Amino acid sequence: MPGLVQAHELTLRQDYFGDSAAWKGLVDLLQDTFSIDVAIQDRFGGPDPTSMPFGYFDGDGRCVANFSAFSMPLIVNGRVIKAAGYQSGAVRPEWRGRGLYRDLMQRAFARTATEGYELDILLTDKPALYERYGFRSLPQHVFVARMPTLQKSGSTARQLSLEAPDDLRLVRALLQNRQPVSAQFAVVRQMEMFLLNACFNSAIRLTALSDNAVIAWTFDGETLWLLDIAGTTIPPLATILSALDVEPDRIEICFSPDRLDCDVSLQPYEGYTVLMARGKAADEIAGPLMLSPMAEF
Ligand SMILES: CC(C)(COP(=O)(O)OP(=O)(O)OC[C@H]1O[C@@H](n2cnc3c(N)ncnc32)[C@H](O)[C@@H]1OP(=O)(O)O)[C@@H](O)C(=O)NCCC(=O)NCCS
Repeated sequence: MPGLVQAHELTLRQDYFGDSAAWKGLVDLLQDTFSIDVAIQDRFGGPDPTSMPFGYFDGDGRCVANFSAFSMPLIVNGRVIKAAGYQSGAVRPEWRGRGLYRDLMQRAFARTATEGYELDILLTDKPALYERYGFRSLPQHVFVARMPTLQKSGSTARQLSLEAPDDLRLVRALLQNRQPVSAQFAVVRQMEMFLLNACFNSAIRLTALSDNAVIAWTFDGETLWLLDIAGTTIPPLATILSALDVEPDRIEICFSPDRLDCDVSLQPYEGYTVLMARGKAADEIAGPLMLSPMAEF
């Protein structure tokens, strides 16, 4: 849209995270729009290196609009899929309604199409915005587990803190070398969102089991929510529960539980956002699923 850009002296920038002032511009845009501080990531080595941000900047260097794609390999029904996620979509209020977002979406979608991504996924509270680009909602379910028989715990459980360098190192190593938490539907590798989500919600506990797996979970005294497992192998639910040493009345698993060796019933997940997908691999997504809250983006 050369006319619009020239008229308002906006500059289009792509792949600009190497410029710390421009990265700060996006941090400010997301803070002002969503009240989240993504600069926390600077503590963990910065934003996802696979990010493909597209942004418009004004003459003062303010980021007024942005839409980013990033690489998010997924496993779907046992097959690793080259998937792209889309995030950080925002336009400053005074710039809305002029087609800036449409322009940035089209640029990002064209880029990932050129790079051969076979699946596009996003989370949104405005599904209508993306339906016109072929995205379809994927219903999500929480898996309510039948209480497993507890075993005498053979593994040592240790509470981790991302503030402690050794703990952070362990979490990062396990995220790097993880077995996907599900073979049906899960991220294959995604480090930055796991760490950011752990920081955003102080109720999330990270517990290491024998340094082979980190369990992300919350517990309100009655319900245990199992959010994710970053491990070289995925332990059965009975092993996890025995090691966590809690006695919940109810267990809700927030990802497809096919590797947990447990019986589950389904409950529709009523989230604030809708998971949407499109692309030639979208038809392969079948059956009840949930994207782990630790992979939310
Ligand atoms: C949603 C938002 C990014 C739209 O930005 P914008 O620059 O005003 O959008 P555009 O002018 O480029 O409009 C793009 C299209 O989206 C549509 N649209 C805009 N806001 C919409 C909304 N809230 N719901 C549904 N569709 C919307 C427009 O009608 C337009 O449709 P068209 O291409 O068929 O003409 C902006 O309002 C915003 O930042 N909102 C707050 C943050 C947010 O919700 N981000 C999206 C997170 S998924």
